[in-house]
Amino acid sequence: MKSKQIDQTGDAESAQTSLTRRDFLRLTLIAAGAIAVGRVVPVQAGRGTTARYPLRIPPAATANNNSSLTAAPGSADLGGGKYSNVLAYNGYFPGPTFRANNGDSASIQFTNGLSEATSIHWHGMIVPTAADGQPQDLVSPGASYAYQFPIMQRACLNWYHPHPHMATGKHVVLGLAGAFIINDAEEAALGLPSGAYEVPLILRDANFDSAGNLIYNPTSSGFLAKNPMVNGTRDPYLSVDATVYRFRVLNGASARLFKLALSNGAPFTLIGNDGGLLETAVQVSQIEFSPGERLDLLIDFRGLASGATVMLQDLKAGWNLLEFRVTGAPGGGTIPTGTLSTITKLSNPVTTRVFSFDGMTRINGKEFDLNRIDFQVPFGQTELWRFKTNGNAPHPIHIHGASFQVKSRTGGRGVLFPWEQGWKDTVLLNDRETVEILIRFDGYRGRYPMHCHKLEHEDQGMMLNFEVI
Ligand code: C2O
Ligand code: CU
Repeated sequence: MKSKQIDQTGDAESAQTSLTRRDFLRLTLIAAGAIAVGRVVPVQAGRGTTARYPLRIPPAATANNNSSLTAAPGSADLGGGKYSNVLAYNGYFPGPTFRANNGDSASIQFTNGLSEATSIHWHGMIVPTAADGQPQDLVSPGASYAYQFPIMQRACLNWYHPHPHMATGKHVVLGLAGAFIINDAEEAALGLPSGAYEVPLILRDANFDSAGNLIYNPTSSGFLAKNPMVNGTRDPYLSVDATVYRFRVLNGASARLFKLALSNGAPFTLIGNDGGLLETAVQVSQIEFSPGERLDLLIDFRGLASGATVMLQDLKAGWNLLEFRVTGAPGGGTIPTGTLSTITKLSNPVTTRVFSFDGMTRINGKEFDLNRIDFQVPFGQTELWRFKTNGNAPHPIHIHGASFQVKSRTGGRGVLFPWEQGWKDTVLLNDRETVEILIRFDGYRGRYPMHCHKLEHEDQGMMLNFEVI
């Protein structure tokens, strides 16, 4: 596998001339395959308004029969027909959307086409340590590794991304991320919107050099970039029928919180989060979520006339994220009432552990050390973990190896939100807050990390290892 130096300096010319003819042909194919609407035609909505481009829908992939995934420098049309340098999986930015059923076996042959070591972590998937893509288990440039794991968990939206210590932020921000959807029988029985009516939305922010290439220019407090991007598309729109859509939403930013709302004031129907479906659907008109967290949202376009538009907005930055354009005929579709899923509550923790997220680099006073295991957790034991901070938040706290339930939040925002019910793997700890979770590791014994999912904090050491025994 040939690897190319990634251009991060803004030197567009050297980046361009390093593209070979084969790259060019490959990229042309990618462009043809990766755009949801056949042709990229900017649509000018009126004088002084932003040109918008068709939302890219990443291609589908199956995880259950010897799939392969290559991380390598590539090039993508971020909107407007001009190609930008990115890092891509199989040439796609974002990477392909994997789908598998609970009970399947995944076998994914990964090849590292970058010029530095990387790995793939399957965020939210309960997998053995050897398949978890941890910072200790990197794949060298040019080398390959087979990630193999059975899928043994409920339906949910997970995602995959690199996890090399001190370089996760760079690899993710330059483009390496993709969705991984698990389906199961409980979810299938609900008849939720599917096919063209189920759309993954990977939200993030991005900075560009003068030639329009993605760059990573973080500060130690985090990478807060100037431009929103959805599925690798700048200023996107999506043409929709007047029916109910299911959006599988990931906060794929490095450090940014989004507060989602619809421009027409209509509520979202929240049906799930990181760990899958909630017990019942909840109507919410604003949702704040942090890097690594996921949302399963229904949006109801019934009753909107053809030609109507609705904007998905981020109220924190005042951004227009994605414009929905009602173009299709009125459709049917329903919003589920009643029970979506049964969630068995964790209770009676036998151990309490306290973790203080200090500054921008430490947990309980310590920076990450690849070779240090901080504590051991008995397999199958329910524990209460308490997270505290004295500032420098947001700290979105993510744990590998198990899902958890959020028990309480005191201080700061002082409440639990509807999207924090059910099962989670990432929870937002904001300034002055104490958050308690209940967790039980009943998947595998082995080494797993816990870390802040603000990638700059993680890369600077806000991470630890523990071992399930
Ligand atoms: Cu999404 Cu340990 O990471
Ligand atoms: Cu943090």
